[in-house]
Amino acid sequence: MSENMRDEITPHKRYATRKEFLKTMGVVGVSAAVLAACQKKPFIVGEDLPASGTAPVPSSMGLTDDLGDPLTSYDNVISYNNFYEFTTDKEGVVKLSRGFQSSPWAVEIGGLVENPGPISIEEIRERYTTEERIYRMRCVEGWSMVIPWQGFPLARLLEDIKPKPEAKYIRFESIYDPKSLPGQANKYFPWPYIEGLRLDEAYHDLSLLATGIYGEDLLPQNGAPIRLVVPWKYGFKSIKSIVKIDLVEEMPVSLWMESAPNEYGFYANVNPGVDHPRWSQATERRIGELSRRPSLLFNGYEKEVKDLYADMDLVKNF
Ligand code: MTE
Repeated sequence: MSENMRDEITPHKRYATRKEFLKTMGVVGVSAAVLAACQKKPFIVGEDLPASGTAPVPSSMGLTDDLGDPLTSYDNVISYNNFYEFTTDKEGVVKLSRGFQSSPWAVEIGGLVENPGPISIEEIRERYTTEERIYRMRCVEGWSMVIPWQGFPLARLLEDIKPKPEAKYIRFESIYDPKSLPGQANKYFPWPYIEGLRLDEAYHDLSLLATGIYGEDLLPQNGAPIRLVVPWKYGFKSIKSIVKIDLVEEMPVSLWMESAPNEYGFYANVNPGVDHPRWSQATERRIGELSRRPSLLFNGYEKEVKDLYADMDLVKNF
């Protein structure tokens, strides 16, 4: 084993050991039934896996989300990805994103804020203490995962940049660099990738800016060095590799709204009762499981977020 490889494995071991400790202390819930149902893709030593993707994490298999569902295996989380800037082939992202330069990196803060300006990823790491959040992620395509993120509430950043009273929405922009992002040659999509949230959604405690996954820094395929995670919405809202954040008055038009307005709305709340025009949203395939399971309104976070949409028609506002 090379020294390099040893370095890659250590964080996973540490993660798993820390988790074992928490579990013993009763801090993390375990469900034997779901544990048994949890499956991993076979792990083959020496296979051409992505950087840091070489360590199975057997003891972390006992961890669950708030509903008792086990974590999706680390190798699935880092090798089955949607990142269209590289390719539309989920299993091809890993290879094409290898060598992606996520350092140096800065996020430009602008629009209707008191404190605009660039903030480097180092400053972000220094200023905001990260915490772990185990969230379900439900892709609009009908698959889902349970992922342990390291991140901090987007609300913390908002408190610092101070939106002006006219600001109603937050708009996020991903990196645009066709030289290093081969998928941006695909002219079907109006690059760069844009997403947005209403300001009250952005302030909600579940809205996370993530810098890590499974106890270590984000890998390129998962949106290094910083991405959004909004667990009650379809995965496409969770924009990766953010370079720009603006506070705005008008509802932002996302890449998906612009490319297929009849298929993708601004809200994109997980809603098994509202089908995608081309497929049902009633069920989903949890990666690592064989059969499909029912999808949950707001991806199972209904109690936490339903008040945000109290007076809204969720069919119209899809
Ligand atoms: N962000 C950017 N910039 N580009 C993308 O193609 N895909 C989205 C979202 N964020 C995407 C993105 C979709 S469709 C999903 S389901 C999630 O990222 C997937 O995140 P993951 O690959 O880390 O599981």
